[in-house]
Amino acid sequence: MPTALVTGPTAGIGAAFARRLASDGYRLVLVARYEQTLKELAAELDGDHEVLAADLTDPVARQRVENRLADQDAPVDLLVNNAGIGAVGRFWEADPDVLLAQYELGTTAVLRLTRAVLPGMVARDRGAVINVASFGALLPGRNGAAYTASKSYVVSLTDRIAAELQDTRVSVIAVCPGWTRTELHRRSGNDCPDPESGWWLDADAVVDQALADLAKGRTRSVAGSRYRLVYRATLLLPRGLSPR
Ligand SMILES: NC(=O)c1ccc[n+]([C@@H]2O[C@H](COP(=O)([O-])OP(=O)(O)OC[C@H]3O[C@@H](n4cnc5c(N)ncnc54)[C@H](OP(=O)(O)O)[C@@H]3O)[C@@H](O)[C@H]2O)c1
Repeated sequence: MPTALVTGPTAGIGAAFARRLASDGYRLVLVARYEQTLKELAAELDGDHEVLAADLTDPVARQRVENRLADQDAPVDLLVNNAGIGAVGRFWEADPDVLLAQYELGTTAVLRLTRAVLPGMVARDRGAVINVASFGALLPGRNGAAYTASKSYVVSLTDRIAAELQDTRVSVIAVCPGWTRTELHRRSGNDCPDPESGWWLDADAVVDQALADLAKGRTRSVAGSRYRLVYRATLLLPRGLSPR
């Protein structure tokens, strides 16, 4: 039975990954901050799952997750770097401690966890890493400077690791969701589009698209026809006009 480690599986997109992967027959290692919530989640899912309570902004706790990922006696076949938080307001008005936590989760944790799991995957010549970035990382914009910067890091890191892995059967993909109905916006107090606007995605649709794109060998996944249309249009822009 393959094993998947999912960070942030207690809500939103991570919960959708956990449900889908459990029903696909994965044994899960569930990583978030609160042991009791994780145990309740593990009991709700079919199968025999492992819980690993860790605040991924804390280097000591994060090291326990790295150690689990590097354990060659119980190899992890799929890593889903999903945990994240939003932060609102202009950069100079946002709480610097929240910005730092967002940075640690969005960049350091992704870097360290991916670095911990890849040597075993490369040695076995199989495995995959799914890094949840954001559609915002693919476009110019005016809000969430630090959030978007961390997601741009994830997209860039993933693109380059994918290129380094091209002679192996190990895959990495950056998932770039647009507005998705989860806990994140309520938790961070974001200004959101009208709930009826048609820009909202379901977490399950983001996950289905991500796994389909991973299976096709793609290195970026954009869910939703509207978002894919916008993304394709940005790829056609001359480089001087393009956001990247
Ligand atoms: N929702 C959107 O519109 C949207 C759009 C683009 C990208 N994304 C990205 O999608 C990913 C998932 O977001 P979501 O919208 O599903 O958020 P969510 O519903 O708020 O869930 C966030 C998850 O992250 C975990 N988490 C938060 N802080 C953590 C920490 N310090 N250590 C470990 N786990 C932590 C939470 O678990 P506990 O609180 O139980 O620890 C929870 O399971 C994030 O990377 C986000 O940036 C979301």
